[in-house]
Amino acid sequence: MMYPEMRMRRLRQSEKMRELVAETRLHPSDFILPIFFDQNIEKVKTTDSMPGVKTFPLSGYEKIASDIQSSGVDSVLVFGVPEKKDAVGSGAYAKDGVVQKAIQGLKEKSDLLVIADLCLCEYTDHGHCGVLDDDGCVINDETIELYGRTAVSQADAGADIIAPSGMMDGQIAAIRRALDDAGHKNVPIMAYSAKFYSAYYGPFRDVANSAPGKGNRAGYQMQCGNRLEAMREIELDVAEGADIIMVKPAGPYLDIIREARDRFDLPLAAYQVSGEYAMIKAAAQNGWIDEERIMMESLLGIKRAGADMIITYYAEDAARML
Ligand code: PBG
Ligand code: ZN
Repeated sequence: MMYPEMRMRRLRQSEKMRELVAETRLHPSDFILPIFFDQNIEKVKTTDSMPGVKTFPLSGYEKIASDIQSSGVDSVLVFGVPEKKDAVGSGAYAKDGVVQKAIQGLKEKSDLLVIADLCLCEYTDHGHCGVLDDDGCVINDETIELYGRTAVSQADAGADIIAPSGMMDGQIAAIRRALDDAGHKNVPIMAYSAKFYSAYYGPFRDVANSAPGKGNRAGYQMQCGNRLEAMREIELDVAEGADIIMVKPAGPYLDIIREARDRFDLPLAAYQVSGEYAMIKAAAQNGWIDEERIMMESLLGIKRAGADMIITYYAEDAARML
């Protein structure tokens, strides 16, 4: 049947009719909110390039958690800014490190699901995601040993899930082994499997104070045009024991999300990163776009592409609208 017998507009004629045939729906449980803790501050801090994103001191966990959970969001991804940075990122695996304390506080004072981002770049004085050799290149095998230590310290602090974001080879296997040896057999790994070398991480580095001093991350993060390589990265992470896989950024990589969804049967996360968020915020502040609609459309697009869960700075705002 074709026009004029067939009319696609029949199913679009009312709000209720459209709701009935909706193929993709967002739910507050889809969202993970990134949150930042800074060991050097006493009061909540804001960052110009990330309007609405707060950095918290190491206190007031109950209020932080209840504010988040009142929106309907129950999962957070925790990042930390340490007191001191050094060449080997010791703050990342210190027993009383910023993220370890924050995780402990949140777990003691709330029932949030706490996911720990695992990387060294917030903790190294050179800003790279691992330890460097004399030429300034990240040494893979020494770095993943430190990732293992970091994972154990985060799980000891009470983290529910460990999310390694450093893009080192063999990092998932190394972390799995370290966790198991330490008795954390039931702590899952959410692998930043296909993480691209992206300019969209700029505002995050303002918040986390983690831009590399010299050089860039192109030697370990993926080049943005490579689709097949992304599938190989995911395949390796699955083989090494990842429980959840991730594509990052999300919006400019919807094809990667779709292909990962079609090829792999693991839960799939997508990270709507700081630059994606900052661009929407900036245009909205200029009155050039409708922020609420663009926010929901960008998230719906990511879910339609195949993401099961979305890490987004809009988590609370979006959950409140649903
Ligand atoms: C740490 C990490 C980064 C992000 C998440 N984990 C920064 C980076 O790789 O430079 C970026 C998140 C965002 O931009 O919102 N490796
Ligand atoms: Zn890093």
